[in-house]
Amino acid sequence: MASRCYFSVLLHAFVFATVATLGFSQLTPNYYDYSCPNALSTIKSVVEAEVQKENRIGASLLRLHFHDCFVNGCDGSILLDPSPTIDSEKNARPNIQSVRGFEVVDEIKQAVDQACGKSVVSCADILAIVARDSVVALGGPTWEVQLGRRDSTTASREAANANIPAPFFSLSELITNFKNHGLDEKDLVVLSGGHTIGYARCINFKAHIYNDSNIDPNFAQYLKYICPINGGDQNLAPLDSTAANFDVSYYSNLVNKNGLLHSDQELFNGDSTDSLVQQYSYDNQAFFQDFANSIIKMGNIQPLTGDQGEVRVNCRKVNY
Ligand code: HEM
Repeated sequence: MASRCYFSVLLHAFVFATVATLGFSQLTPNYYDYSCPNALSTIKSVVEAEVQKENRIGASLLRLHFHDCFVNGCDGSILLDPSPTIDSEKNARPNIQSVRGFEVVDEIKQAVDQACGKSVVSCADILAIVARDSVVALGGPTWEVQLGRRDSTTASREAANANIPAPFFSLSELITNFKNHGLDEKDLVVLSGGHTIGYARCINFKAHIYNDSNIDPNFAQYLKYICPINGGDQNLAPLDSTAANFDVSYYSNLVNKNGLLHSDQELFNGDSTDSLVQQYSYDNQAFFQDFANSIIKMGNIQPLTGDQGEVRVNCRKVNY
């Protein structure tokens, strides 16, 4: 009897240790059901109102979740402002003068804390929820958001520089970067579909339109008006032909050599990812289903859980 009991304790310890090391199954969609039943509906209504005012904000908010998860896991680190102890990721190369939406995150945090009567929803979870609500508000798929992430007490500009992929990356560099984050080639193709919404600055596509040959000449010509060879670096162009709609145009544009970024067109340039791009270009259902699966996978990258980290009161600063 005693030995059976001992065995059972061992087995539980083993299962717990396995779950803890693999890092999944710790998040759950029901995490706030008791502590704040109105959390999700409160967040959704703010996102809907903000997207109604300016639809690009939906794109900017989706991007924040991506840039959060790719730097030491989805831990809200992207939201920390510079301070004597925080080397803010906002100042990293891919983010500076580029990521936006922080005021909307502040507004959401305030609204949700008020609805809960206390600060219980982490900033990292807010980013994951807001990514889903933004995609839905722009006509994309929905999914059940996994919750229970805690917020970091640190940030790293260096890690952001090293981990967020660059628009001049080749296909093999993109694949390696995603693999380093536990994501495969299919995740790369489907998550790049995030570029079905939003805008990029001239500085990020200038080399592609002036130097690359895998671009439709008429499309390149149109972009050269927006993005002159000298100057105009901050001018914006839509990432696909329907930047306010979450749809498959991103992929049909790639098939027609109308990719805005070099890294976008790399996904359809005579290599292993061509067939998936081709499929998504006409298969809305497959894209939506796969996007939902891959973004859940992305949201599971190295979360802080349990008593790790904290739930920040103000997403821009660590608690005292
Ligand atoms: C695959 C590698 C990726 C690269 C190289 C990349 C690069 C970029 C660049 C250069 C911009 C324009 C920034 C600017 O000009 O200021 C951008 C915008 C954007 N990215 Fe990505 N990205 C990638 C993957 C993703 C993923 C996985 C998502 C989300 C699932 C995403 C969502 C967005 C969105 C929504 C925008 C528009 C933001 C806005 O309008 O404010 N990107 N990306």
